[in-house]
Amino acid sequence: MFKCAIAGAGGAALVIALTLTLGCGSFLGPGICRGWPGVFAERASETVKSAARHAYFRREGVPAAYRGKRNPYQPSIALVLAGADLYDLRCAICHGPMGLGNGQASGQLRQRPADLAGSLSSPDAADDFLLWTISEGGRRFGTDMPSFKEPDLSDREIWEIVTYMRAAFEGHEARADMTGVNRP
Ligand code: HEC
Repeated sequence: MFKCAIAGAGGAALVIALTLTLGCGSFLGPGICRGWPGVFAERASETVKSAARHAYFRREGVPAAYRGKRNPYQPSIALVLAGADLYDLRCAICHGPMGLGNGQASGQLRQRPADLAGSLSSPDAADDFLLWTISEGGRRFGTDMPSFKEPDLSDREIWEIVTYMRAAFEGHEARADMTGVNRP
């Protein structure tokens, strides 16, 4: 009888563990899963943006060389696929495969990479902001975001990546305000 109760408790614990493990990846909400960050968090623990970059942007806007530039290419499957390949090759190592800021190298940087899914949901992330950031990187703000402008990537390739990111990440993240801005 006693053994039976122990086996029952063990079985129940197993069921609860399995439900949490599977459920946190699918049907259970953040109310239940948030308490298990180390185990279940698939994104970086905080939405990280460069405070210096965003302070500059609020003060000056996008630098003149990039200001007002818009993606000149119509979104198409070919463009999205080309952008996905480039993103995978050049960006995922830091920003993570789904733009959540949790790529393999993310823990080794001076500042964690931005959660792009969050960034893209913000009204700040207009085309010219993205072109500027991706082209020039974060050197002037003391961050490890690399510069990708020519001769590394062409403008077209950067627009392909932007098209892909908008298709794949935009709107997938509710924390689009500035509460996650990191101190430099
Ligand atoms: C070596 C790591 C690394 C790689 C590779 C990298 N990034 Fe970043 N990225 C960062 C870091 C760190 C930040 C935050 C600091 C900053 O904004 O400069 C950042 C910030 C950004 C931001 C600004 C987001 C915001 O809201 O402020 C964008 C956009 C961005 N990255 C896009 C890209 C794209 C697109 C690629 C690939 C072409 C890429 N990054 C590759 C590390 C990286």
